Parts: sequence; C-alpha cells; structure tokens
Amino acid sequence: MPADPPTDISTTREWVALLGRPVPQPLKLLFDADPERAERYVVDAADLHVDFSKTHVDDGTMAALLDVARAAGVERRRDRMFAGEPINTTEGRAVLHTALRAPRGTVVEVDGCDVVPDVHEVLDRMAAFVDDIRADERITDVVNIGIGGSDLGPAMATKALAAYTHPRLRTHFVSNVDGADVHRTLSGLDPASTLFVVASKTFTTVETITNATTARDWLVAALGDAAVSDHFVAVSTNAEQVEAFGIDIANMFGFWDWVGGRYSVGSAIGLSLMIAIGPEAFGEFLAGMRAIDEHFLDTPLEANVPVLLGMLGVWYVDVHGCSTKAVLPYAEELARFPAYLQQLDMESNGKSVRLDGGPVDTATGPVVWGEPGTNGQHAFYQLLHQGTTVVPVDFIGVARPNHPYQHHHDLLISNLFAQAEALAFGREAPDEPHRFFAGDRPSTMILTDRLTPSTVGQLIALYEHIVFVQGTVWGINSFDQWGVELGKELANRILPELTDTPAPDRHDSSTNALISWYRDHR
Ligand code: F6P
Repeated sequence: MPADPPTDISTTREWVALLGRPVPQPLKLLFDADPERAERYVVDAADLHVDFSKTHVDDGTMAALLDVARAAGVERRRDRMFAGEPINTTEGRAVLHTALRAPRGTVVEVDGCDVVPDVHEVLDRMAAFVDDIRADERITDVVNIGIGGSDLGPAMATKALAAYTHPRLRTHFVSNVDGADVHRTLSGLDPASTLFVVASKTFTTVETITNATTARDWLVAALGDAAVSDHFVAVSTNAEQVEAFGIDIANMFGFWDWVGGRYSVGSAIGLSLMIAIGPEAFGEFLAGMRAIDEHFLDTPLEANVPVLLGMLGVWYVDVHGCSTKAVLPYAEELARFPAYLQQLDMESNGKSVRLDGGPVDTATGPVVWGEPGTNGQHAFYQLLHQGTTVVPVDFIGVARPNHPYQHHHDLLISNLFAQAEALAFGREAPDEPHRFFAGDRPSTMILTDRLTPSTVGQLIALYEHIVFVQGTVWGINSFDQWGVELGKELANRILPELTDTPAPDRHDSSTNALISWYRDHR
C-alpha cells in the first residue's frame, strides 16, 4: 500500500473549523451548565482512569478535534505503524516498539519477515540470564551505562517499581559524560560483585563508550582482563562495535533498527529493569503496554484515550497557545517520569519541518516538564496558579500506595485533588488582589489503582501513543532526531581544540573566547 502524503493540517477544512470554534466558556461555567460533566468527560483504558472534565472541551470542540484527527489520517497511520510499514521515512525504517510487546504467535512483518519470534528469542535469553544473575549471590550491584533512551526508560521504570525489586540487587544508572556520575557510582562499589550493562543502540555514543571504558578500566585494575567477560554485558543493535569494545557477542542482547531509542524500554534496553524486577514482572510490564496498544488499536476515537488526550494537547498548543505542559505525578516513585517524557515527547515532536520537507504551519510539541507532588507545590505551583502563563497539567495519582503509611497517602491524594480543584476554580478575594486565584486553568487527572509493572507499562504506552497522534496531526516524523546531531559534531570538533598547540581560532568570537578561557583555567 503506497504511503499517503502527509497532510498539511493547517490547510484542511477540519482545521479551519476547529480554529473557528467559539472561545470556550470558563471551566466554572462549563460545570455549572452541565451537571453531568464530571461523568461525561471521563474515560478508561485498561487500568487507567482518565478524567479530562477540567479541560475546556465541550462536545462540539471534541467532535471538531476528532474530525481533525480523522483528516490527518491518525487511524490509517496507526494501522500502518502497527503493521510494520516504514513510516519513519527520513530514516527509511519501520516503527515497531509495539512488536516488542506482541504476544508469542502474533505475526508482525518487516519486509516480509515475522519479527515476533526474534523478539521472544531475545526475551527468553534475557530471562535465562536474569534468572542466573538473581540467583548468583556474588552479584550485589548492577550498573546500567547508557544515555537518553538507553537510560531514561529503565531508570524511570526501575524507580517506579522499587517495591518490586530484588532484595539483594541494587541497580545504578550512569549516563552523564561528566565524570562525577561514574565516579560517584563506582566509589561505593566492589568490582567483584558488580555487573555492568552497557546499553546503547548504536554503541557509538560518546558518553556511553567513555563511561563504559572508565568502568572497564576500574574493573580490570582490580580483577584483571579476564574478569571483563563475567562482569560486562552489552545491549545493542551493533554487534561489530560491541565486539570492538571487547564484549563477547555471547554476552550481547540485541534489538532492531525499528525500535527508536526513546521507545526502547520494552526491548533488551530494559535488561537492567528485568534484572531488578525479574522476568515475570517484566512480562507483566510488557502486557501492560500491550493492553494500551490494543485499546489504541481497537477503541473508537470517541473513547480512545491516546487520541482524546493527544487531540486535547494539540488544541492547547495550537488554539490556546500553551507552549508548555506540566506532568505532575503524585507518586514519589514516578519522580523520573517527567524526565522520561521530556525525551519521549520533545525528541519526538520538537520539529518544525514536515514529513514532506515543508515547514510546519502550526505550533508543534510543547516544552514538557514536571516534578512529583507535593514537592512541586512548594517550588513552582505559585506560577501555575497565579502566573501570567497558562500551563495545562497532567496529574497522575494512585489509589493504593506501595508503602504502609496510609495517612501519608491520604495527605498526598488530598493535595492532588485540591490542586486540580484550585487550578480549575480558583478563589474569589474581593479587595485582596494578591490573594485572588483566577482559576480556569486546565488539567487532566490520570488515576490508577496501584503502581504495578502493568500500570507503569500502561502509562508509558499511553504517552507513546499520545505523542504519535500529535506528530501525525502535525505531519512531522516523531521517530527521527536530527536535531541532536549538530551539537555532537561541534563537540567533536572542539574537543581537540581544548588542548591543541597552537591555540585554535576557528569559531565565532564568543566560542573562541570560551575555549581560550577554559585553556587558561583547566
Ligand atoms: O542523542 C540522542 C540519542 O540518539 C537518543 O535518541 C538516544 O536515545 C540516545 O542518543 C542514546 O543513543 P544510543 O542508544 O545509540 O547510545
């Protein structure tokens, strides 16, 4: 089936109709006018309960948003993604993170070849290896060395699932090329009881190779060269580079170019997570993702949570001009979720060129940020409530904690609900302008029963598909990341210039002066 050309959404009559909708009523009036609003703007997907009644949407606007989604071909492109078509056209690749959680026996073909048996072969190898590590009393610490998608996914999920982790094994994540990161991590460790997982799709990423080399030197200094094969494994698509680094291919877990880095936590990139929570829980994590995949595939747009939330996001960015979005989990274990989403969303949809090479005529991905509540309340919520910028918020909360302190949890949840209420409805303060809360600030509430491997998987897949829906509407490629290249190239150029003789003079005057300052002070 030939690919449809991307739609320039801004030229469609559906988009024009959306822009022509009346300015929405304030939230207070919307609730006053519709006593059933709190029931009608609520949807469930698997174990996620989503209340978007405190956004400004009404039935007419939602219908207009879904018309835009249809005009953009969201359903058609979704089906093409799941079917393994090369929708990542700038890199000529399929986009098949969904195949990573396809049950055994499902058929997903890339270039006529079913990839699901390969996926399960790697998962089985991972499980056998993980069982050995979890049973091996000599290993107490696992260090994942990776960056971006080879760090944030497993780091976020391992923290989110701290309640499920193996009692003996501590998992550490080293990502930054700043030597402080590897130094702090290695300082507390014993080489004899440490396993390193070097995670890199390309195995050429300078941060990861530098950190892995430092870790290997540290290990070899204590235990000799022979110890490398027992203490290092690799996760990569690049067997050649893994071997060149000195890790035996027998100790490598592979994945495929149709898995994007920021979409890779369900692949072998999740090895350190699987070590932490065990193969069975990792299977539940994948099943959670799969449950949302099925919801996204099978649910009519009117109740399709990634579509609804994706389109609301488009509306706030493009119609309301909200250029940032906060994700505020009221769950300490989800502390890294906003950082994870920053890469997922901003590396995917931070684009200004459409798939056909033309400029985007709409605003695209917002700046995503956040911190867990209640900490954020004592830091930046002042601006959320009374600042001049309106920031749509996604709140995330759980009914039952993974700790025994019920009173803490009731306090936490009372704050969660109170913040959404205060943002939406504000407070009158006649004659006291500083105490006045205008309210009318939108938020979406995502609730689930508990943080479990399954529900964490569900949250991840939900946001993956939201990003997909939005990228499709904007007509951009959410699966490449050319925008990270230039900085890497320039860093390679500058590195030798920090020490070369004679001192170079090859850049703009500001960069030359900075290099010169560093040379004088290093
Ligand atoms: O620099 C961006 C990036 O390419 C991300 O997309 C990716 O997740 C990260 O670097 C790490 O890449 P790799 O897994 O190849 O080391």
